[in-house]
Amino acid sequence: MTRKKIIAGNWKMYKTIAEGQAFAEELKSILGQTEHEVLVCAPYTQLSSLKKVFSGSIVKLGAQNMHFENEGAFTGEISPLMLKEIGVDYCVIGHSERRQYFAETDDTVNRKLKAALAHGIFPIMCVGEVLAQRDAGEAFDVVRTQLTGGFAGLEAGEATKVVIAYEPVWAIGTGRTATPEQAEEMCAFIRETVSGLFGEGTAESVRIQYGGSVKPANAAELLTKDNIDGALVGGASLIARDFKAIIDY
Ligand code: 13P
Repeated sequence: MTRKKIIAGNWKMYKTIAEGQAFAEELKSILGQTEHEVLVCAPYTQLSSLKKVFSGSIVKLGAQNMHFENEGAFTGEISPLMLKEIGVDYCVIGHSERRQYFAETDDTVNRKLKAALAHGIFPIMCVGEVLAQRDAGEAFDVVRTQLTGGFAGLEAGEATKVVIAYEPVWAIGTGRTATPEQAEEMCAFIRETVSGLFGEGTAESVRIQYGGSVKPANAAELLTKDNIDGALVGGASLIARDFKAIIDY
């Protein structure tokens, strides 16, 4: 089974509208042919303008979070309907920064996953352990629990549409990348876990990204591993040339 690689930028809380547009114009002008799927997950304020700049290009658009309800008294939140209206293709769900600073749990991840799928938005579900958990030998248990909770109640057909991003928290923004062997080992474990939950067919087709200090210099050694089907790139996705170099690894 050949899985199409998916290279996604996660801009986090960076870039004004003008800066985002400038990036998008530059990326479009330097990006040649690629067999990979490419997308940028931008702050809400930039989604409409990026949609316009990227239209007619291969670059797809993602959000970084969403609420699970369509509408309601949830001050400060954005719903899947609102994202769909803009034409968002993907949404990051359960990023470790959301879990850490905004009290997201496996239960909210599960609700958001279901809501995204119901609206035709492809979820990128983030999982990963913190350093203390890795040091204590708990990394695999932690990731299994996140997967089981996040996927609860989904059908195999829905699970296939979910992109899973393995992001060890200790490798995010630290410059300390997981070794390709550590990343591959966990991504293989994730596939095995998906197989246990939904069967081998789903496990073979589901795409699993690695995220955490991915840069042009280390992209190839990570992205050529059997079970790593893409990258979720933070810092290096803010610079168009670096992001392109990762896409062209
Ligand atoms: P960095 O690439 O900056 O380490 O961030 C990774 C990340 O959190 C992507 O979602």
